Amino acid sequence: MQENKQRLLIKNAAEVVTCAGGVKSGAAMNEIGSIADGAVLVEDGVIVWVGKNAELPNGAADGAEIIDAKGQCVLPGFVDSHTHLVFGGYRPEEFFWRLDGLPYLDILEKGGGILNTVSATRSDSVDKLTTLGLQRLDAMLAMGVTTVEGKSGYGLDLATELRQLEVMDKMSATHAVDVVSTFMGAHATPPDYRGRSEEYLDFIIDSVLPEVKKQGIAEFCDVFCEQGVFSIAQSRKLLLAAQKLGLKSKIHADEIVSLGGAELAGECGAVSADHLLHASDAGIEAMAKSGVVATILPATAFCLREPYARARTMIDNGCIVALATDFNPGSCFSHSIPLVAALAAIQLKMTPAEVVTALTINGAAAVGRDKRIGSIEVGKQADLIILKHPSHLYLIYHAGMNVVDKVVKKGQLVWQNNV
Ligand code: NIG
Ligand code: FE
Repeated sequence: MQENKQRLLIKNAAEVVTCAGGVKSGAAMNEIGSIADGAVLVEDGVIVWVGKNAELPNGAADGAEIIDAKGQCVLPGFVDSHTHLVFGGYRPEEFFWRLDGLPYLDILEKGGGILNTVSATRSDSVDKLTTLGLQRLDAMLAMGVTTVEGKSGYGLDLATELRQLEVMDKMSATHAVDVVSTFMGAHATPPDYRGRSEEYLDFIIDSVLPEVKKQGIAEFCDVFCEQGVFSIAQSRKLLLAAQKLGLKSKIHADEIVSLGGAELAGECGAVSADHLLHASDAGIEAMAKSGVVATILPATAFCLREPYARARTMIDNGCIVALATDFNPGSCFSHSIPLVAALAAIQLKMTPAEVVTALTINGAAAVGRDKRIGSIEVGKQADLIILKHPSHLYLIYHAGMNVVDKVVKKGQLVWQNNV
């Protein structure tokens, strides 16, 4: 073993779940590479060894910081691959209007919903949005999230869209959690373009996208492809224009009605299609065939009191399924990975192993980082979590509870439970 390297040894773990072998589709989502009595060795933030504790190489502990994980389970850090975490204001009243039966899209049509958050976000400074964003990252980290995706889309004008992306850039540079940025200027049509969504879309394509590209502050472009928001044709036009500038595609697809967003994701080579509550059989087939990551957000269906996406059908038909929170001020004010995990197992009928795959390596694929993060394999960045308990089953069995004891990011212990 080499000198002068910063080393971390996690030893004596009851279980190490590696999720090794790359992104997983269909039945392979159950292959999580569980090692009983395992250990992980990290050098300078990179995993250099993983295996049975009894087979640790000689000298592995020399000069290393040691974490004794006796009776505990080690997992790859969670990747929350779909959130809207930078926003101003809150919308508590709406939540209860919806429970009283007022549809989500009717609230938006009346100038509430997303547009309500747009006014609040436009009036907040970079500093205010950054402070709020960092507090949210702290809370996510404590639940085991080591990488999060975040979207703009609460500005809907040039200055505020760029401000949201700038804030995410700052957050990523300051905080242990990495933030992957997505430009979502096509989240709704702003009041000044009311009834002229095509003109607004042209403004996004001609004036905002080039600036986003120039500043290099987003990796993905997303669109709310939904009845009464942006059509299939409009979504296609935007995503292809963004692809020309080098931005990869994501789609809010088939959330409220079955519009064909999943099919469009397959057609235009989107990295992920998200929500999918009403994805058609043809849409599921298209995602499976094209390797689109089907990202399911069960906490949103729960909060909207809507039927859940057909995760079982997607997995059984060979899709790559990821799970994420969709944390946002409207449809789902929750970044609780434990809630998502419990809903996925109890309501979506996913197995515990599928849930773990969907929150780690497949989440990493949904943000285009599956070669760097999402599994415990030699050469990967050491983003790891240590549960309070001996196996991954507790993530679901202890329903909705935070079971994370420690979080390691790039080989550094960045969070630990003090209770
Ligand atoms: O993913 N559906 C569109 N966008 C978000 C909700 C945004 C909001 O309500 O503020 C979502 O559910
Ligand atoms: Fe969303």
